[in-house]
Amino acid sequence: MLTLYDIFQHNKMTKISDILLDRRTIRKYSSEPVDDKLLNELLMMGCRASTTGNMQVYSIIITRDEEKKSDLAPLHLNQKMITEAPVVLTFCADFNRFNKWCLLRNAEAGYDNFLSFMTAAIDALLVAQTVCIAAESKGLGICYLGTTIYNAHKIIDLLKIPKGVVPVTTVTLGWPSEKPEQVDRLPLEAVIHKESYSDYSDKNIENYYKVKEGRNDSQQFVNENDKETLAQVFTDVRYKKTDNIHFSKILLKVLRDQGFMEQ
Ligand SMILES: Cc1cc2nc3c(=O)[nH]c(=O)nc-3n(C[C@H](O)[C@H](O)[C@H](O)COP(=O)(O)O)c2cc1C
Repeated sequence: MLTLYDIFQHNKMTKISDILLDRRTIRKYSSEPVDDKLLNELLMMGCRASTTGNMQVYSIIITRDEEKKSDLAPLHLNQKMITEAPVVLTFCADFNRFNKWCLLRNAEAGYDNFLSFMTAAIDALLVAQTVCIAAESKGLGICYLGTTIYNAHKIIDLLKIPKGVVPVTTVTLGWPSEKPEQVDRLPLEAVIHKESYSDYSDKNIENYYKVKEGRNDSQQFVNENDKETLAQVFTDVRYKKTDNIHFSKILLKVLRDQGFMEQ
């Protein structure tokens, strides 16, 4: 059996700091396949991520089949990465497996509540991000799809996901056929608080967002969407209150249906 030691021995690792600082989301992939051996290595590395109580309350569903990807695409608002990437990974918060183990071992499972959903969702996101870094370290490109939590109910049906399991994010994976510009980040000081939270004055906010607002691509967003400010592109177009409420209701029903809101 392949051990992690073997993987590290056989692969020239690029410096992790370079990988992290140089990364960018990739939305266009070449037709070159990602072989099972490589995918398995990435998943093994991902599963070394920290996990609550070492319970591993997550599952990862691999979709490679073209027909299945086509079925998934509309559930991700037809984002083309789903059908164009050779690999689609759906990361799920999963207490189903652990609950079954408890049942078999005369242990009373108490995981039918919101806290347990959060626990499993955090586990799933940590494994997802670790797989992504592993993939990027091999030169692969990844894109997260936030649409997973909009249409979790439909993804549950399509991927035959049982009670106790909720898909929380999706990652498309493949060899890049683009190298987009890195997008901006807020200055580090905008997101760091020393010792305790120091709330933002209007002046801080002006200062922290001015570079983002001044960028050409931001101006273009504002103009294309016929808005006055960049913030309005978020509130009125990209992440609207009405959509947020609509999808919140659906997600809360998913949590109830999947057995995470019993207590
Ligand atoms: C939870 C999450 C959901 C995302 N959903 C989408 C998505 O649905 N479609 C997409 O094209 N990019 C998606 N992204 C990628 C972000 O748009 C991207 O990370 C962000 O713009 C910063 O760009 P960078 O990763 O290249 O630095 C998502 C990222 C995260 C973390």
